[in-house]
Amino acid sequence: MAKLKKAYFCRECGFEAPKWLGRCPGCGEWNTFTEEVIAKPTSVVGAVTMNAPQSLPQRVSEIKPSSHRRLDMCNVEVNRVLGGGLVPGSLVLLGGEPGIGKSTLSLQLALSSHGLRTLYVSGEESAEQIGMRAERLGIGNQECYIYSETLLENILQQIEQQKPDVVVIDSIQTIFTQTIESSAGSVSQIRECAASLLKYAKTTGTSIFIIGHITKDGTIAGPKILEHIVDVVLQFEGDGNNVYRILRGIKNRFGATFEIGVFEMLDNGLRAVENPSEILLSHYEEPLSGIAVGASVDGVRPYLIEVQALVTNAAYGTPQRNATGYDSRRMSMLLAVLEKRVGMKMYQKDVFLNFAGGFRVADTGLDLSIVASVISSYYDRAILDGICCAGEVGLSGEVRPAPRSEQRISEAARLGFRRIIVSGFLRKNMKTPKGIEVIYINNIGELPPALFTE
Ligand code: TYD
Ligand code: MG
Repeated sequence: MAKLKKAYFCRECGFEAPKWLGRCPGCGEWNTFTEEVIAKPTSVVGAVTMNAPQSLPQRVSEIKPSSHRRLDMCNVEVNRVLGGGLVPGSLVLLGGEPGIGKSTLSLQLALSSHGLRTLYVSGEESAEQIGMRAERLGIGNQECYIYSETLLENILQQIEQQKPDVVVIDSIQTIFTQTIESSAGSVSQIRECAASLLKYAKTTGTSIFIIGHITKDGTIAGPKILEHIVDVVLQFEGDGNNVYRILRGIKNRFGATFEIGVFEMLDNGLRAVENPSEILLSHYEEPLSGIAVGASVDGVRPYLIEVQALVTNAAYGTPQRNATGYDSRRMSMLLAVLEKRVGMKMYQKDVFLNFAGGFRVADTGLDLSIVASVISSYYDRAILDGICCAGEVGLSGEVRPAPRSEQRISEAARLGFRRIIVSGFLRKNMKTPKGIEVIYINNIGELPPALFTE
């Protein structure tokens, strides 16, 4: 038997070194190296490169655009996040925390893609378990095959026989190749398996979804290498206690990133939520204080979201600041601006902030609505019905335009809001939109009259 060859790999970025290192020269992380057994059949690698068909440089105008054909996944949200459908031969990484619904989503896609032949490979569950899940989802499909296997060589052989249009690998951490001796889920296994799948996808035009578990700090599968290899990186996220899930495009070689898809986890699978504002706005009998509505944009889709603030007298010396789904440093900044520019005594107040539906937001265009909700709760005065805000707040209390303000305004008008408060900088270039009153303010000092008076 050949002597075992060993190498050290960084768990974060996949950097390979012959010796153990304390700090990874690749990503600068400390104590991330693990020892793994590798046995590269060097002669085979050499032979493959020798025999591989050589492609020649071509004029860009001569390249056939037919390669831009898209496969319809029969799911509006997924199609949009992918940039208008799945590109044949693409490799898509679907990441997310355990239990968030990656297996459910991908099985649902495999079952509902009518007109496509799909193969769902699972290394985590048995065929019976997947069959039960399919029954629960209640979608029948004769062209969907289920295969429970962990050995990559067998999987590739079955893919070659079945010739599916779309393959799902659930998950990359559970499959392994015989050419490497380290265990499944190790950096070198993940790298080799992903590389083999990539080669297969590119040579045959089969699209492959790879599911990857996410580590605690939010990076996909630990090794960043996977993100470089694949064409599209999607992240499935949401609060485990909440039914809403968001599919976010992080990287997309064939479309725009920062596009989101919204889903609701029901008893019989995931339902696409085509109009997110419908779930993010609650309808109260009478107006309550501390609630404001912000017009936001994710990718190219505008939506309205409710923000709630609770401002109470601080019981202890140091006031509490607690934000759910929002950067608490940005919240502190907005509170400091209110303190300094409007003279509100925030240093004596505890402030809690929350977004509807357990949404996580990072849009600075929501600053103005956050400020509005804090003002409303501070004075315990409800904002008038049918008013929303869209604008960024600067350190001097100035109100700056939010990106894509026109879209935010037209979404607010579409949903029946009667007034939107935006930055005064927009006054010059803005066409007067129909059906909604636009109030331009330059400073947050001008905000209260716009919120509380007709
Ligand atoms: P799963 O897809 O197994 O998560 P992952 O593959 O990301 O680990 O999702 C499991 C959760 O989803 C589980 O808690 C049950 C729930 N679920 C539903 O609420 N409705 C359904 O129809 C299905 C299939 C699962
Ligand atoms: Mg799973």
